[in-house]
Amino acid sequence: MDNLVSLCKRRGFIFPGSEVYGGFAGTWDFGPLGVMLKKNIMDEWWRFWVDQRDDIFGVDAAILMNPRTWVASGHTATFADPLVECKSCHGRFRADKLVNGANESISTEEFAKAAPKCPTCGKTDWGPIRKFNMMFTTHVGAVLPEDLTSAEGKDLAEKSTAYLRPETAQGIFTNYKNVVDTLYPDLPFGLAQQGKAFRNEISPRDFILRDRECSQMEIEYFVDPENWEAEFEKLLKENDEFLTKIMGLNLADINHLEVAPADRAHYSKRTVDFMFAYPNGEQELMGLAYRTDFDLQNIQRESGKSMEYRNKTDNKVFVPHVIEPSIGVERLLLAVLSNAYSEEPVDGKDETRTVLKLPGNLAPYKFCVSPLLKNRPELVAKAREVYQLLKDKYTFVTWDDSGNIGKRYRKQDEIGTPKCVVIDFDTLTDGTVTVRDRDTAQQVRVKPTEL
Ligand code: GAP
Repeated sequence: MDNLVSLCKRRGFIFPGSEVYGGFAGTWDFGPLGVMLKKNIMDEWWRFWVDQRDDIFGVDAAILMNPRTWVASGHTATFADPLVECKSCHGRFRADKLVNGANESISTEEFAKAAPKCPTCGKTDWGPIRKFNMMFTTHVGAVLPEDLTSAEGKDLAEKSTAYLRPETAQGIFTNYKNVVDTLYPDLPFGLAQQGKAFRNEISPRDFILRDRECSQMEIEYFVDPENWEAEFEKLLKENDEFLTKIMGLNLADINHLEVAPADRAHYSKRTVDFMFAYPNGEQELMGLAYRTDFDLQNIQRESGKSMEYRNKTDNKVFVPHVIEPSIGVERLLLAVLSNAYSEEPVDGKDETRTVLKLPGNLAPYKFCVSPLLKNRPELVAKAREVYQLLKDKYTFVTWDDSGNIGKRYRKQDEIGTPKCVVIDFDTLTDGTVTVRDRDTAQQVRVKPTEL
């Protein structure tokens, strides 16, 4: 993991958020290479789930939503983690993370019995467990800090409170009726959304795995309740297909964990967590949850508007049930990176090379073009021609004429460029270029039009 974090920084994939000011815990910034990788992942997800299907449609809802959303969804009441404070050093931690086998409903008594040591000072002098709501609050409208101190101000503060959405899902549920009324799609159908989600995590950690600001890609798949089990199994398989065929992960690194009832989110009757073998151990990559009609019924109650669906074939009227595949972009990106990362000896040399064996569809650049020597105008001119030829066709092409050719290969290996194209003296006579493969380091000569 340390090597991967260092590569991400060294090559401009991921930087700590606000680094210039000493950082800001739980936030990360994506640099030029990271943005390209992240965008490729998100675009491939959209292509697989939305563009290539007839039953899933996109939405893009506002991040700021009417606060009643979070009352109806149960987040105001239950989206909380157990917080415990060390009385000695005043460090604050998630209680369930300090006790082996504990879950989020751990009580003060259970915690006291386990008596874990404080990870910071080693003492076992703990305060009671308190529930800490993880939603970030903000105030909407022209509210000044001094307005908030008087009794009138407190009332104003309460009325103006809004939340940064902790999941993208609710923006889908609140648009379910709009889509049914405008598109009237056949059931089952899904709505997909990508976007930012915010959680005031007590202890953000493990690089980009647990952030305070992350991006989610979620689908709410609306089904006839009679068919939920079959649809769940289908979505499980389709998610495996997406993760392996499109993201290039190995099925052997994914463990489908059937989540026990006590560990499931408040809305779920069945959840399978897709656990991935990250470099620092197995962690949740994504979840597949059967949310029943929990959300649509809550919205129906809170809004007074019907969420019923009328079957076109038999006129049966009911509130659909929902199956939700939900994945964090950062967790997927880290899985892709750790799957691709490799260190291997260089043939015939006392040297190791670091290679990101990214699938071609995800690699930030598909080709790197360079002249063998940058001080030979005839090589540079020919290389520019080839560069433009590829750029017109693929967009994701980079130019590199720095250092010697060996250094350029090392750099392109580290950022995962599948093919390096070199224009050398033979190009000037026979018109062919050298193409060097990232994974095998084998070289072949081809005409530029064959690239
Ligand atoms: N709508 C359901 C939902 O949000 P979740 O299990 O809380 O369920 C779904 O989150 C996915 O979002 C997780 O499996 C993970 O991939 C990602 N995720 C959740 N919290 C995250 C965080 N703090 N940092 C990065 N990714 C996170």
